[in-house]
Amino acid sequence: MHKIDELELKIKEAMKIVGYDIESITLNPSNRPDLGDYQYNGAMALAKIYHDSPMNIANKIVNAIKNFSEFKEISVANPGFINITLSDSFLIDFANTSLKDINSNYNLGINKTIFLDYGGPNVAKVLHVGHLRSANIGQALNNLCKVVGCKTISDIHLGDWGRPMGMVILEIKTRYPDLAYFKDNYNGEEVDFNLTNEDLLELYPTATTKAKENENIMEEARKINLELQNKHKGYYALWKKIVEVSLSEVKRLYKDLNVDFDLWEGESDNFEYMNELFEYLYSKNIIQKSDGAEVINVKEESDKKEMPPLILVKSNGAVSYEATDLAAIWERTHKYKLDEIWYIVDKRQELHFTQVFRASYKSGIVNDDTKLIFNGFGTMNGPDGKPFKTRDGGVMPLSDLLDNVTKVCETRLMESITENRERIARTIAVAAIKYADLLPFRTTDYNFDIDKFTDLNGKTGTYLLYSCVRMNSLLQKANNANIKYEDIKILSTDNERKILITMLDLKRMIKRSFENYSLNEICEYLYKITNLYNNFYAENKVLIEENNDKKTSWLALTKLIFDNNKYLLNILGINIPEKM
Ligand code: ARG
Repeated sequence: MHKIDELELKIKEAMKIVGYDIESITLNPSNRPDLGDYQYNGAMALAKIYHDSPMNIANKIVNAIKNFSEFKEISVANPGFINITLSDSFLIDFANTSLKDINSNYNLGINKTIFLDYGGPNVAKVLHVGHLRSANIGQALNNLCKVVGCKTISDIHLGDWGRPMGMVILEIKTRYPDLAYFKDNYNGEEVDFNLTNEDLLELYPTATTKAKENENIMEEARKINLELQNKHKGYYALWKKIVEVSLSEVKRLYKDLNVDFDLWEGESDNFEYMNELFEYLYSKNIIQKSDGAEVINVKEESDKKEMPPLILVKSNGAVSYEATDLAAIWERTHKYKLDEIWYIVDKRQELHFTQVFRASYKSGIVNDDTKLIFNGFGTMNGPDGKPFKTRDGGVMPLSDLLDNVTKVCETRLMESITENRERIARTIAVAAIKYADLLPFRTTDYNFDIDKFTDLNGKTGTYLLYSCVRMNSLLQKANNANIKYEDIKILSTDNERKILITMLDLKRMIKRSFENYSLNEICEYLYKITNLYNNFYAENKVLIEENNDKKTSWLALTKLIFDNNKYLLNILGINIPEKM
């Protein structure tokens, strides 16, 4: 059990003996550190139950617990706060347990199975900055789920299906009508057709513009798309090629961002379940016809806002994005036994998911035991607060953004590094981008600001990496000087205490992060503890310290903070470079 939990239990038992029998008590980190490390504010509530003044109650409690070895000091403040200063031995015990078993601050014993849907890039379209947040937040939440004890299944949910695919195929057909894919006798053989991601980035906008401007072209694309859905041999083979080319670029970028998936499925995979799904929905009698479309009514009495019906099939016969997501839920819940499905998607898609979730429960595709959770996120805007654009007004491809930040990191931060420059610059750039992206609460919009994000003296990924590299180098030097250290023996400065008090709250911070589906507290925590460590570092010359207990305790503390920061950064998907 965590030391704070243990202490709470012990206090609760002691309170029972003096007549206050309550279910549980909570100690909170003090917001007046000058008065104590932790606070118990329960006397105010007890006053109402036991018809006594909070001051009297607080004093009685303090009398019952004041001799605990866990305390260095305990006092009562008006109107009934109990302030606790923890003993050094308590903090040292905690630190040494954490040092031996980092996991002990993370494993919450939550053993749910959670399916995470994030990334969501679209085939043949440029991977742009909008997809960055889904990948960053999704991957970090996935990592967080795992450290608290859950089993996870992640899926990229590729946008690889639908009419745009028909448009792109039509455009290729128009340009290269002689390709084997388009011959009646095509039989699935390999076709010598060199298609690159750059080609696709040009083909897609050209094809969609043409279709929008010309109804005949649109009609033709629709037809091709329908044939594609029926697995027309040539179109299907070409489509496979398009997906493959697109995906290889997506994989390259995601690898740099430390983003990975268990399943690289797409909407096309969900489509395999469409017939089954429709059969089921018809059998449940919940589909209605409306102006030629097929819809499910998802309005609820308590709705204050307008709730339009979910459109399954549009009046032109096309199967909708909503239907795809229902098919996805159908597939996922039939294949796996899931406690929760999380969607990490732009918050502007909230209505879509509300409709899909309601239809899923209403039709019984999922039962009430499976929670469907929409984790929307805010937008990353340009420095001017408007949607992020390239200089000529287009969307900013993610690869360009990564390259730009990498260049800035290289010129700004790495004068002294000669070896592996490129790789290290990339690692630092990814940290700068990711930290800035995860720092605001998930639903908050933020402005992209390259100078701010790479500032070595700010609340940034680069500051954190720099600090960690320095901790690591201190440990390396100790190692080279053959200084042996194992655990913390004494606390000799106030900063050490502050570091450990902050670390005591780590496990609860992780719990809150998991419950809020947000990484911002982890980011704040990393900054706070790193600052405290740097204050300590500036104040003490570790390696030339003459008192051996002090020196080895300081090294053990450094190792604790380094290991733990590394663990936390790992959750965020950030690596620490060997040098900086
Ligand atoms: N491909 C979609 C888009 O770019 C995002 C997919 C989100 N996930 C989902 N299950 N609908 O808008």
